Amino acid sequence: MRQITAKLHRDLPPTPLWACGGSVPGPTIEARTGEPITVEWVNALPRRHFLPIDHTLHGAEAGKPEVRTVIHVHGAKAPPESDGWPEDWYTPGKSAAYSYPNRQDAAMLWYHDHAMGINRLNIYAGLFGLYILRDEFEDGLNLPAGRFEIPLVLADRFLLRDGSLEYPVSDHPGSPWVPEVFGNAMLVNGRLFPYLDVEPRKYRLRMLNASNGRFYQPSLSNDQKFFLIGTDQGLLPAPVEIPNFMFAPGERVDLVVDFRDHAGETILLRSGPFELMQFRVARGRVDDPSSLPRTLRPIEKILASSAIRTRTHVIREYMNRAGESMGMLLNGAHWAMPVTEDPLLDSTEIWSIVNPTDDSHPIHLHLVRFQLLDRQRFEGELFNLTGRVRLGGPLEPPEPSESGWKDTIRAHGNMITRFIVKFEGFPGRYVWHCHVLEHEDNEMMRPFVVRRS
Ligand code: C2O
Ligand code: CU
Ligand code: CU
Repeated sequence: MRQITAKLHRDLPPTPLWACGGSVPGPTIEARTGEPITVEWVNALPRRHFLPIDHTLHGAEAGKPEVRTVIHVHGAKAPPESDGWPEDWYTPGKSAAYSYPNRQDAAMLWYHDHAMGINRLNIYAGLFGLYILRDEFEDGLNLPAGRFEIPLVLADRFLLRDGSLEYPVSDHPGSPWVPEVFGNAMLVNGRLFPYLDVEPRKYRLRMLNASNGRFYQPSLSNDQKFFLIGTDQGLLPAPVEIPNFMFAPGERVDLVVDFRDHAGETILLRSGPFELMQFRVARGRVDDPSSLPRTLRPIEKILASSAIRTRTHVIREYMNRAGESMGMLLNGAHWAMPVTEDPLLDSTEIWSIVNPTDDSHPIHLHLVRFQLLDRQRFEGELFNLTGRVRLGGPLEPPEPSESGWKDTIRAHGNMITRFIVKFEGFPGRYVWHCHVLEHEDNEMMRPFVVRRS
């Protein structure tokens, strides 16, 4: 991790960034299931931060070193001592050697900073990258690979004319924290309005939303559909054709797109009114030996009846008298309060997220993968006033793009979102949190402990 400058667009002056391995996103780690690796994450950053630290946030008090980092691999089933516990940060000149057993299915994971109280700033500065895990089963499917497999990391930033990054601040000097950040530049793989020359054939596009707070709804300008083949934690049982999908910070979506019938066209990848990038399809015809199999990887449904316990979690948002958000908490609990989530190793639980706020919060658990059961509308306002749950609609099944293995799930406003999770892997201390980084840094994050007995 060190300071670099990078050209984000031909017409912009270079931008100072913090990078893993010299680029933003950092180098993609390619790993294989069953082959453990060790990464030494070295903090070679300057001693001063270039983004506005809020010293009123827990863990970022004045007196703590300004520059602190600790890396977490999002989606990895890693032992607790290698998971990137937010308080295990270290300062410039230090490093941590973390080991990743890679005992899990092929999936696109990603690494990013997780330092308590400044995580949103460190990731915004550029400390993130991909970690692609592959396995034999996936190799056997003959999906588009090599230069026909394109990871797309979406991360918006606020850029000034001089090319520098701006991180917005509140109107309150002394407590600059803001509840969310939306940039003016939709960067794709660290570039503004990039294009990709493609051949008229199939491509595998692997998308990650690495933004602090922006949700995207990607679609193609020619109304061509995507074949959805996977979610956060790997492949779906079968491809599903979808025109677009929503995804929140932390989520991944695995797609196949066929440009065969579009030789010579320029196709935009968009999200709502925003243009993200172009695909410039070459003319003519090419051989496409890759396949899009009818079936992919079977997923065994975790039966609700196998859950030994249901935990209900309530999202609370706190406002000041001016109606400004002062932050959100999970179950009204601060980070440092005693552990309340203590699942038994190898047991299955249902987590029910009651979200009476108006916003969708992407809830992420470390260590585990899970399955979304359903969502149901309820009256948030009434709940906030009286604590009563009045349901207001049918049980809604998962959207296709969240129907597979997940590690991050959107808990929509005024809805109860239920997922089922088996706490496999390792006993020990992990975290769960909202992946809107501004929320996470302001204590919408809690520990959980996987117990041996
Ligand atoms: Cu993307 Cu706590 O993680
Ligand atoms: Cu994670
Ligand atoms: Cu949130």
